[in-house]
Amino acid sequence: MADYKYENIKIDIEDGIAFVALNRPEKRNAMSPALHYEMDEALPRLEFDPNVKVVVITGAGGNFSAGQDLQKFFRELEKNPLERSKAASAANRWRWERLYNFSKPTIAMVHGYCVGGAFMQLLGCDFAIAADNATFSLSEVNWGILPGALVSKVVADMVLPRHALYYACLGEPFNGKEAARIGMVNSSVPLKKLKPAVINLAKRLMSKSPAVLKATKQAVRHCRTMDFYQSYDYLAAKGQAIKVGDAEDSYNTGLKQFLEEKSYKPTFQPFKLKRGAATQRKKKAK
Ligand code: ACO
Repeated sequence: MADYKYENIKIDIEDGIAFVALNRPEKRNAMSPALHYEMDEALPRLEFDPNVKVVVITGAGGNFSAGQDLQKFFRELEKNPLERSKAASAANRWRWERLYNFSKPTIAMVHGYCVGGAFMQLLGCDFAIAADNATFSLSEVNWGILPGALVSKVVADMVLPRHALYYACLGEPFNGKEAARIGMVNSSVPLKKLKPAVINLAKRLMSKSPAVLKATKQAVRHCRTMDFYQSYDYLAAKGQAIKVGDAEDSYNTGLKQFLEEKSYKPTFQPFKLKRGAATQRKKKAK
């Protein structure tokens, strides 16, 4: 099993689920340049680690993240534009490009504080579950900047414009229940049920064909900015592309298990994964 040793993040892999925790608890997991570089390095490793099926982004010590480190990311880099540019690139890449395009499902597990720049990884993840008593805040307006990088954009894309304007302009904190009500997270649960709820979701995701799941999450994400005709075209091509290299040969396996074997009902559950089904079929055909 790969060895993930970092100073500012902590990675534990349990039964296919990688729990990736920002690990500066004494600073409420505020994100320093060093933390960004580590996350930027770790995520592609996890993407290609066969022991990892789902990635959970969270924070150590009871908090998700207090946003960018106001000392190390802002003040200390003010007079060092080169370093600032490098740190911002790494920060944006892992929190958005890497998570948004991640080939495995990703879940944000939110407890404690989730502030400012932390909304990028919150919304970069495919799913989010929060503790009822988590504290969310778009605090930027309270200390003199706007929600930058992509925060304004991704918040406005995720929730109704009224909610985005309200919380971005007022900078008032809101809890996990409110985050669920406005669609910022999928659900909120009592704190002690948070990890079990995340594991339950991860297990349900792991019961699906990875190839079909990957294509489905990309389809839903990318079609949002396409018109109808682009979407027809993209989805048809994507549908064909799934079949290439799909270890489960999902289309044929799913149909066979329903039509011939009558072993499951697609309305309620996925077909039973049989690893290497496509390879076996090819061998038989030879
Ligand atoms: N940047 C740098 N240091 C931070 C940050 C941060 N974002 N958040 C907390 N810390 C540090 C504090 O300075 C303090 O350090 P110290 O022990 O050396 O004095 C330590 O973490 C603990 O913070 P406290 O404020 O003492 O903890 P408390 O639990 O009372 O409050 C809270 C936590 C509410 C998160 C508060 O620290 C806070 O408001 N932080 C700022 C959050 C913020 O606005 N982040 C930036 C968003 S904008 C952006 O990300 C682009």
